[in-house]
Amino acid sequence: MATHIRVIIFIFTSSVILLKHSEGARIFTIVNQCNEMVWPGITPGDNFGGGGFPLKSGQSIVFTAPVGWSGRIWGRSGCNFDSSGNGSCETGNCGTNLKCAGSGEPPATLAEFTLANPDFYDVSLVDGFNLPMSVRAVNGVSGNCSTAGCDGDLRDDCPSELAVKVGKRTVACRSACDVFNTDEYCCRGVHGNSMTCQPTYYSKKFKSVCPTAYSYAYDDPTSIFTCFGADYIITFCAGRKQTVCTYHDNRLICNGSNRSFEFVHKLLLFMISSILSLWLLA
Ligand SMILES: *[C@@H]1O[C@H](CO)[C@@H](O)[C@H](O)[C@H]1NC(C)=O
Ligand SMILES: *[C@@H]1O[C@H](CO)[C@@H](O)[C@H](O)[C@H]1NC(C)=O
Ligand SMILES: *[C@@H]1O[C@H](CO)[C@@H](O)[C@H](O)[C@H]1NC(C)=O
Ligand SMILES: *[C@@H]1O[C@H](CO)[C@@H](O)[C@H](O)[C@H]1NC(C)=O
Repeated sequence: MATHIRVIIFIFTSSVILLKHSEGARIFTIVNQCNEMVWPGITPGDNFGGGGFPLKSGQSIVFTAPVGWSGRIWGRSGCNFDSSGNGSCETGNCGTNLKCAGSGEPPATLAEFTLANPDFYDVSLVDGFNLPMSVRAVNGVSGNCSTAGCDGDLRDDCPSELAVKVGKRTVACRSACDVFNTDEYCCRGVHGNSMTCQPTYYSKKFKSVCPTAYSYAYDDPTSIFTCFGADYIITFCAGRKQTVCTYHDNRLICNGSNRSFEFVHKLLLFMISSILSLWLLA
């Protein structure tokens, strides 16, 4: 009788441990490595600080994305909000609210996610560029979990006809579609498919700064990623190659998926449950 109960307890605890491990809620770590404050905007933002908050230079913040979350994250720069969260920014405004209820105004660099099985993620410059961004998948089990985003800062290299300036500073770079509104730049009309919408002088400039980001609407092959079981680190103003770490299940994970580390972790779990079962059955 007592043994039966122990067996049941054992099965229950091991399934809880295993389930928790495989289900794996997605941890989002947002890091500001810019020299200035950034005000991330997130929509839908219910599980992300209400959709907007200030993030000081060098700070990071951690959220857990709900199952099935699909949304976008961008940065706002040069903001001025009053104590009630009313104000405006030089780039990325979502109306006048600190907490975003909808999308930001272009031009803004966007990180886009669809969490499913697998997750889809990308960084998009289709609506222009305001801050360097990278999306790094960590602890991914399979898929192409490459880092999406930028190595450099397009504000330093923006063609003058696309530049958004505040005084003498370039604060953002508009897309050619936004500025010239032609079918060629906007991938419309006869240019409305992946065969006829080709890279342009401007989109190539965007691509050179952000090699794994959408530089125009049909830039899919090198820009969209699919990854199973990962957590995500979204960094403002860091190159794709920089080392970054995040916490998941109280473990520090660095630099992309580490299969050997994962294996050691699973071995450890197995040993703990074995010891537990021996003790329970004794
Ligand atoms: C918010 O601030 C703007 C100026 O930035 C002002 O015009 C507007 O009236 C303010 N709205 C509220 C609700 O305080
Ligand atoms: C993953 O994506 C990167 C960047 O687009 C690409 O260079 C690489 O070949 C892809 N890897 C696989 C296995 O598809
Ligand atoms: C992390 O990756 C970068 C570039 O891919 C590399 O230079 C660095 O040495 C890596 N760090 C570790 C701890 O593996
Ligand atoms: C990967 O895991 C090994 C242990 O298996 C560890 O020594 C190494 O530091 C890990 N690398 C990273 C970048 O976390």
